[in-house]
Amino acid sequence: MRETADPLALLDWYDDHARDLPWRVGPAARAAGLRADPYRVWLSEVMLQQTTVAAVRGYFERFTARWPTVGALAAAADAEVMGEWAGLGYYARARNLLKCARVVVADHGGRFPETRAALLSLPGIGPYTAAAIAAIAHDAPEVVVDGNVERVMARLHDIHTPLPLAKGELTAAAARLTPARRAGDYAQAVMDLGATICTPKSPACGICPWRAPCAARRAGTAADLPRKMPKAGKPVRLGHVYVARRADGAFLLERRAERGLLGGMLGWPGSDWAAAPEPAPPLEADWRLLDAEVLHTFTHFHLRLKILVAKVDSDAMPERGLFLSAQSFSPAELPSVMRKVFDLARGALETCG
Ligand code: ADE
Repeated sequence: MRETADPLALLDWYDDHARDLPWRVGPAARAAGLRADPYRVWLSEVMLQQTTVAAVRGYFERFTARWPTVGALAAAADAEVMGEWAGLGYYARARNLLKCARVVVADHGGRFPETRAALLSLPGIGPYTAAAIAAIAHDAPEVVVDGNVERVMARLHDIHTPLPLAKGELTAAAARLTPARRAGDYAQAVMDLGATICTPKSPACGICPWRAPCAARRAGTAADLPRKMPKAGKPVRLGHVYVARRADGAFLLERRAERGLLGGMLGWPGSDWAAAPEPAPPLEADWRLLDAEVLHTFTHFHLRLKILVAKVDSDAMPERGLFLSAQSFSPAELPSVMRKVFDLARGALETCG
C-alpha cells in the first residue's frame, strides 16, 4: 500500500517553517485566535500575481502604511495609487485594485464579503484570488490553486499531463487534500512548500514533509513536472533512446557525431530525432518501453523522447556505443536532455527487479 499525503504532516511542517510575510498571520498567532485582515490578504494576493514575494514586500509595506484600510484606499486619488504601484507592472491590476476597493466601500459597507462566490463578483477578483481570500482570511475550505500548488500536486501524484490541459486533474488532486480545519494555514503551507522546497528547479526532496508519499520523487521525475504543452510554433519531433545497464553498473553510451545537435557530446544510443520509426536497438536484450517520456526543448524544435531500458549480461556485445563503468561515467557530464533520460531510466532500472 502506498502512503497517501497527509495534510496534517504539511501543517506540522508549516508550524515550524512558515515564511514570515508582512501580510501573513503566522500559525502560532492564528492558533492564538488572530485572524488575517481580508484587506491585507486581498492586497497581497493582487500584488503577488505575476510578481515575486521578494519584489512585493516593500510595495506592500508602503501601501498599507499609507492606506491601512480598504476605505482609505478607496478614498485615495487615482494618481497617488498609480504612483505607489509604479514598478510592480501590469497596471491594469492597479486600476482594478482601486475599482474593487471602491465597490467594497460603496456596495459592501467597507467590508470584504466572506464567501468565494461573493468575492468573485468584485472587480479584478478571479477564482484563485477569491478562493485565497476566503481560505486565508476566513478559513473556508476552498481549493486554492496557483502555480506552486499545481507543481506540488503534479509531483505528489506524478501527473504527466501537460499544462494547461492538466488544470482539472491538478485541481481535483488539490481538492482531495484540502482539510476542513485550518484551511487557511493549509493553503499557505502548500504555497510555501512550493516556494521553498518543491521549487521549479532542483527541488529539495530530502527535507520535504511529503517526501514519503511523493510519486514523482519515487519515479525520479520531480524536476520535470509539471509538464507544459509545447508552445505553438516549434515543431515536435519524436525520438527513441536505449538505456542498457550491465550487472556491474556500466551503462552503454555513445559519443554523438561532431556535426549536428549536441555534436561530440556523450549520449544514449538511439534515433536521429528526424524520423519517427523506432530504430534498431544497439544490442539484443529484453527492452522495456517506459510510460514516461522526456520532453525537451531545443532552439528550433521540441523533442519527445521515448525511453527503452534493459538490464544486460556482462558479456553483451553492442553494435554501437561503448559500456562505461560507473566510475568513468558521470551523469553531470551529459547534456541536459540525456540527463533527463538518465534520471527516468535509473528509477525504472532500480524498480524492475
Ligand atoms: N504566493 C501567493 N500568495 C501567497 C501566500 N498567501 N502565501 C505564500 N505564498 C504566496
